Amino acid sequence: MRTQVAIIGAGPAGLLLGQLLHKQGIDNVIVERHTGEYVLGRIRAGVIEQVAVDLLDEAGVGSRMHAEGLVHDGTQICVEGVRHRVDFKALTGKTVMVYGQTEITKDLMDGRAAEGAPTIYSAYDVALHDIQGARPRVTFRKNGVGQEIECDFIAGCDGFHGISRKSVPPSAIANYERVYPFGWLGLLSDTPPVSDELIYVRSSLGFALCSMRSPTRSRYYLQCSLAEDVDSWPDERFWDELKLRLDDEARERLVTGASIEKSIAPLRSFVCEPMRFGRLFLAGDAAHIVPPTGAKGLNLAASDVQYLSRALVEHYRDKSEAGLDHYSERALLRVWKAERFSWWMTTLLHRLPDSDFEQKMQLAELDYLFRSKSASTAFAENYVGLPY
Ligand code: FAD
Ligand code: DHB
Repeated sequence: MRTQVAIIGAGPAGLLLGQLLHKQGIDNVIVERHTGEYVLGRIRAGVIEQVAVDLLDEAGVGSRMHAEGLVHDGTQICVEGVRHRVDFKALTGKTVMVYGQTEITKDLMDGRAAEGAPTIYSAYDVALHDIQGARPRVTFRKNGVGQEIECDFIAGCDGFHGISRKSVPPSAIANYERVYPFGWLGLLSDTPPVSDELIYVRSSLGFALCSMRSPTRSRYYLQCSLAEDVDSWPDERFWDELKLRLDDEARERLVTGASIEKSIAPLRSFVCEPMRFGRLFLAGDAAHIVPPTGAKGLNLAASDVQYLSRALVEHYRDKSEAGLDHYSERALLRVWKAERFSWWMTTLLHRLPDSDFEQKMQLAELDYLFRSKSASTAFAENYVGLPY
């Protein structure tokens, strides 16, 4: 098989890149380790910035998002039972869109299938070859048969545990990492959300987040210990614990019900530098991870893909290497800003073990955030994705 760009991974980064390239007449093949159903079954991001909204429109798959997505003008932060609101629209003129990653992935999959662009699911033993040479290759096994794709470029969009980053010689890569001593236990239920806006909760019992997917579907998260087992959290226990962390009004309004998904995610900050190695370009979680508190992961994946797709179009159409040469530097500038915001918001709102001093700092910082217009504006700008 021969293509212009071989894309590893059919998550949001790989599918979006494939769709944008396809629209520009650039041939690409996506190779994905799992089945399409498996990829769609992962419940992850819920909040997207304008950059991702615009790219989904550009990719021609934005219509359902505009019809079903929820535009949020602000968010709420609850500190020890008292709720505060940050008005994004008033402070920055911008809003965010609440539309699930599952729906985005489905829209991109459907768009790709409609255009007949190839995605190879259930591909095993994916391996990258000659990434520094002029003719890189991707090999894999499908239904027990070995296959090979020759290409001009490889886009590594295969997430944090993927093979692309691991294919780079360790001496050519620098990794920066922080692992947090807690995780998030998430629950999805067909119950109406507790509020019209997201509520980020800082309580002495730990962080919680009330989010949503639609007017009838809610997504809740609880800070939990890394040693927790999801099986020891029957729905009743989850709801009881959430109620303890909420303010009185939210506690009264909360509608509980059977979960349709429950899972634990560890929290991590990670960046690898650079994001380009010869003809291999990393994008999305393959190159960087943020703790989910700032809702930045999928948005960063989208902005990487924006830079990379434009650079590849410049290469093929204008015969210019400038975009490809600057890809890593440009993407990392944005990545580190989102890393800073996600780290800051995580340390601001979570219960940190054995740290009376840090707790006092959190409360002082939160008080400053709500009282100072410039601090609220800085928060809103970061959340909606402006200062990049
Ligand atoms: P992935 O979604 O990980 O996709 C990578 C794909 O590559 C997968 O399909 C995988 O199967 C495939 N793959 C892996 N290895 C191989 C291989 N060897 N060969 C072939 N294929 C392979 N972000 C936000 O912006 N907003 C939010 O509100 C938000 N909330 C989150 C909440 C939670 C609980 C979590 C866990 C994450 C959240 N995120 C959020 C982050 C967001 O989900 C990720 O940043 C996003 O999924 C990254 O997309 P990606 O395509 O880069 O990687
Ligand atoms: C969701 C996840 C997040 O990490 C976040 O900051 C906001 C919302 C969600 O899954 O809805």
